[in-house]
Amino acid sequence: MARMRVNGQALEFALDPATPLLWALRDAANLTGTKQGCGGTGQCGTCTVIVDGGAVQSCAVTIGSLEGADVTTVEGLAGHPLTLALVAEDAIGCGFCLPGFVCAAAALLQQNARPAAEQLDALPTRCACGLQPRLRRAIGRAASTMAASGQPSQPPEPAPQTSPEIVTRPR
Ligand code: FES
Ligand code: FES
Repeated sequence: MARMRVNGQALEFALDPATPLLWALRDAANLTGTKQGCGGTGQCGTCTVIVDGGAVQSCAVTIGSLEGADVTTVEGLAGHPLTLALVAEDAIGCGFCLPGFVCAAAALLQQNARPAAEQLDALPTRCACGLQPRLRRAIGRAASTMAASGQPSQPPEPAPQTSPEIVTRPR
């Protein structure tokens, strides 16, 4: 069992605590936006989600280590300035790389509204569709939008905890 908040919803995973967060999200919570890219070796960043405000590779962390954590997946970032910027920059190809990129870049923008070039270089942008320049432009566009709107640099306070929905693997 492991309880956490995922995209604002209280969930209790009725799974082995050693289950990687990636598979708990995909197989139990049906949040299939998060993708596996490198076989779960922690090297590609395609599986990145946001945990307590920071980018985390979901294939490399177990649900047992996330008791009480606040998790955001790409599904929870609909309407985020970066998601809208990707559309505006025509930066959407097959979509395979995008969930990890969006989560990593959104976490970065929340921590640093004007990220340095080295921080942008460290984002998971192994885009087989060749959209890296557009992904980069989208971050700049999102940063400008967030600055213009005065969007807070820190994530909002989590809502009060409610009874968790229990999720388990489908049989
Ligand atoms: S699947 Fe590649 S880092 Fe997680
Ligand atoms: S959009 Fe296809 S891999 Fe990036």
